[in-house]
Amino acid sequence: MRKSDWKIVVVFLCGALAAISLSAWQSPPAFDLKASIARGKAIYNTQCVTCHQEQGEGMKDIYPPLAKSDYLMANKARAIGMVVNGAQGPITVNGAKYDNEMLSTDLTDQQVSDVLNYVRNSWGNKGAAVKPEEVAPQRKKKAE
Ligand code: HEC
Repeated sequence: MRKSDWKIVVVFLCGALAAISLSAWQSPPAFDLKASIARGKAIYNTQCVTCHQEQGEGMKDIYPPLAKSDYLMANKARAIGMVVNGAQGPITVNGAKYDNEMLSTDLTDQQVSDVLNYVRNSWGNKGAAVKPEEVAPQRKKKAE
């Protein structure tokens, strides 16, 4: 090999090393909120839409709204607990009272995080990501 060829080899190796260390530095991959929201939309449209409605507006006096819901956005853990365990009894959402029942779901931890990421980031809502590992601690706990 000529001297100039070695230079090319060295430059190539440095590049490869940089790429490897960069990918190692990037892992574990960051939580992909966008992908979670997209999966959550599909879950919402099969499991929640009949009551909470297409735009999350709910139904007056019967089903509370999720769109711009102060109740939903105020407490992430409580919302997780309600989706996994169901909820009943009087609650106040955006100043309106509801006293009805929501059944528990059999969604997986990831599905619960997905559907909550969708509702907490739709219709004007903007909330911090709900990660699957935040779901398990809320199972079997009574919703407040
Ligand atoms: C059969 C109708 C029904 C379905 C289906 C349903 N909910 Fe509910 N949801 C309710 C009712 C009723 C309440 C209020 C319960 C109460 O009065 O304590 C509620 C309350 C809530 C709340 C808290 C109150 C608020 O408006 O912020 C959240 C969050 C919520 N539901 C999310 C969901 C999600 C997510 C799904 C789908 C996985 C879902 N619900 C499916 C009826 C339903």
